[in-house]
Amino acid sequence: VKRITTHTLQEMKNRGEKIAMLTAYDYSMATIVDDAGIDVILVGDSASNVMAGHETTLPITLDQMIYHASSVVRAAKRALVIVDLPFGSYQGNSKEALNSAIRIMKESGAHGVKLEGGVEIAESVSRILAAGIPVMGHLGLTPQSIYKFGTYTVRAKQDVEAEKLRSDALKLQELGCFGIVLEKIPAALAKEVTDSLVIPTIGIGAGQHCSGQVLVIHDMLGINKGFTPRFLRQYANLYEVMSNAIKGYVTDVKASDFPNDKEQY
Ligand code: KIV
Ligand code: NA
Repeated sequence: VKRITTHTLQEMKNRGEKIAMLTAYDYSMATIVDDAGIDVILVGDSASNVMAGHETTLPITLDQMIYHASSVVRAAKRALVIVDLPFGSYQGNSKEALNSAIRIMKESGAHGVKLEGGVEIAESVSRILAAGIPVMGHLGLTPQSIYKFGTYTVRAKQDVEAEKLRSDALKLQELGCFGIVLEKIPAALAKEVTDSLVIPTIGIGAGQHCSGQVLVIHDMLGINKGFTPRFLRQYANLYEVMSNAIKGYVTDVKASDFPNDKEQY
């Protein structure tokens, strides 16, 4: 199989083919995701929520991201693997940002990194790109800034924030980012930004006009019970499927039905 690259993604946008991206954090899940034909696997810092049970993405560490990323890389034969730089590993200064990105690339074997923010992190983005590491931007609802925002509601509904997002997107493109995630912004703004850029946009809660879409795998498989924002489409109810399987096992063990004659040596 031929590996998807950042150049493949640009060609896809150029010919109007949508890019399908999902998160994964471990070998077994990433094997299924890759085999099913996903273009990009994001080792998101949403691992902090869905894998570790934290309330926000802030606590996850660079070492923990590298552990998740290396597991995913071992599974991905075709997909491009992009890894989030976690909170605190790139905002301080550009040298630290570069060191964090280099650790991810060397220690996990991933193919690129994603950073949240616009002009504020321009120096870090430039420095990482100068080292030959592909960088993806992330604008709109950037969860590492949740304590600044206060809520997880739609961003950039007001003119000032929308205008900053437009200029941040152009800035990230100018610096050399290969794509930008647009999270939870009005569909009309996402369309405008997508049309204004050469590079692809990947939306989550940003409408149908982005160059591609991304979802958190636990959300779209329905493993995350009770997380049902408007932007989410649930393609399965794995909570129920898995819960029923586990209940069946408990019942069988208690009834001495498992293992049976054929399931032993
Ligand atoms: O961490 C994550 O899962 C993400 C996507 C939602 C874009 O950043
Ligand atoms: Na993230």
